[in-house]
Order: sequence, then C-alpha cells, then structure tokens
Amino acid sequence: MTSLASQSVLIVGGSSGIGAAAAEAFAALGAHVTIAARDRKRLDAAAAAIGHGVRTAVLDTTRDDDVAAFFASADTFDHVVISAAQTPTGPVRGLALDDAYAAMDSKFWGAYRVARAVQINEGGSLTFISGFLSVRPSRNSVLQGAINAALEALARGLAIELSPVRVNTVSPGLIATPLWSKLEAGAREAMYENASARLPARRVGQPEDVANAVVYLASTPYATGSTVRVDGGGAIA
Ligand SMILES: NC(=O)c1ccc[n+]([C@@H]2O[C@H](COP(=O)([O-])OP(=O)(O)OC[C@H]3O[C@@H](n4cnc5c(N)ncnc54)[C@H](OP(=O)(O)O)[C@@H]3O)[C@@H](O)[C@H]2O)c1
Repeated sequence: MTSLASQSVLIVGGSSGIGAAAAEAFAALGAHVTIAARDRKRLDAAAAAIGHGVRTAVLDTTRDDDVAAFFASADTFDHVVISAAQTPTGPVRGLALDDAYAAMDSKFWGAYRVARAVQINEGGSLTFISGFLSVRPSRNSVLQGAINAALEALARGLAIELSPVRVNTVSPGLIATPLWSKLEAGAREAMYENASARLPARRVGQPEDVANAVVYLASTPYATGSTVRVDGGGAIA
C-alpha cells in the first residue's frame, strides 16, 4: 500500500454520505483533503465534523462552465474521488423523461465533466462511485443500473486514456447515508430490515465500508480499470 500521507485528495460530493466518509478516511491517513459539493453550509458542517484542516470548494458538476472554470484555476491532485450525484429514479415507463435526463446528467455526465477537466499527478488515481444495480437490475431503478454500468465502462476506458493515472470504480450496495433521508423514517427502517434479512452480509452497509475500498484503490499502485463491489453480497443475493 502506497502511503497517502501528504497526498493531495479531492472528493467531489464530499459533504455527505460516502464522500464524507472517504474524506475522513483520507484525512485520518494524513492526506490533504478538499471536499467539493453545491451547498456551502453542508460543506462547512462536513469539514468541521471531519477536522484535519479539510478544505472546501463549492462546485456543481452539472454545470459545464463551472466545472471547466473550477479546474482551470485549481491545483493538481494526487487522488480524486467522484461521489456526487442526485438521481431521480423510477421505472422506465413511470419516470418523466426530464427526470431521467437529469439523473444521467448528474451522475454520468457530472463524473465525465470532472474527469475531462481535472489534472491528476502521475502515480495518482481517479475513482468513481457507481452502484451494484449495474449488475443486479431492479424493476424500479432500471435507469440507475444503466447509469452505473456506463460509469464503470467510462472508468475502464479512462484507465487506458489517462494512463499512467489509474482509474477505478467502487460499486456500493445499499448504504445507510443521507441519500435515503427523503424516505419517511418508518419506510427507511423497513427497507434496511428487509435488505439485512436478504443480504449475505446480514446488514446494511455503512459509508465507511465504501470508504475502505476507495482508500484501497487509491493506495494500490497495481489497481486500475477495476470495479470493486462493496454490496454485502447484493449482486449475488
Ligand atoms: N447510499 C446508497 O445506498 C448508494 C448505493 C449505491 C450507489 N450509491 C452512489 O454513491 C454516491 C454517493 O451517494 P451517497 O449515498 O453518499 O449520497 P449523499 O449522502 O446524498 O451525498 C451526495 C453528495 O454529492 C453532492 N452532490 C450532489 N449533486 C451534486 C452536484 N451536481 N455537484 C456537486 N456535488 C453534488 C451532495 O452535496 P450537495 O447536495 O450539497 O451538492 C453530497 O455531498 C452516489 O453516486 C450514489 O448514487 C449510493
């Protein structure tokens, strides 16, 4: 494992959930971490919670010009993680087309915009966060699976195009993050209980489970073009 101490790390989508856990993991290993997202207050709260002098940047990955301008004036980074997404979901025949386009724009094109503009130092890495629906489709989230599969394919291609920078994907299963706060508490707990009963791991994932895999990929010089699933066995259950 390569040391991450003093490495410069950018986590896009680092103010919440998986991104915030990854930021905390890198910071605890001595990296210089910047978290980026849209909402200034959430960024400040996350940076205060993480500590370690984590820096913040306001960035909306759905805006072409903002992304280009941000990276034109930003430093280069050793490791970049893209966990940012806000994806309306639903069955193909139920989800409005505008919502479907917005989901793809946020998760796939958002990652693409960042990957296109960011400067990563030789020996560094870029990591996407996809999701196990890419290999285990769900009746009500077909688009989500397609977006995740596209992201994983983008990472494999970029691993060739951006070499020697390494490009990988972590594919989580169900993870207890603020992503699910839009569900009413009772419905959310019922979903977690059902998943725990069904999954080989017998529990729902925590953001730290995914952060471990992100750190593994950033610190393992022979890992590139990989997709690492951290899904409690969701893809095989
Ligand atoms: N939680 C799960 O069960 C699960 C399962 C599989 C895959 N995933 C994937 O894992 C990733 C992270 O999910 P999470 O659960 O950690 O979600 P989360 O807690 O909602 O965090 C999402 C983060 O992304 C930021 N963000 C959203 N849209 C953005 C944009 N356009 N530009 C910049 N930042 C943006 C949010 O901050 P702002 O809103 O302030 O911008 C926040 O920091 C997502 O791609 C999600 O699809 C999650």
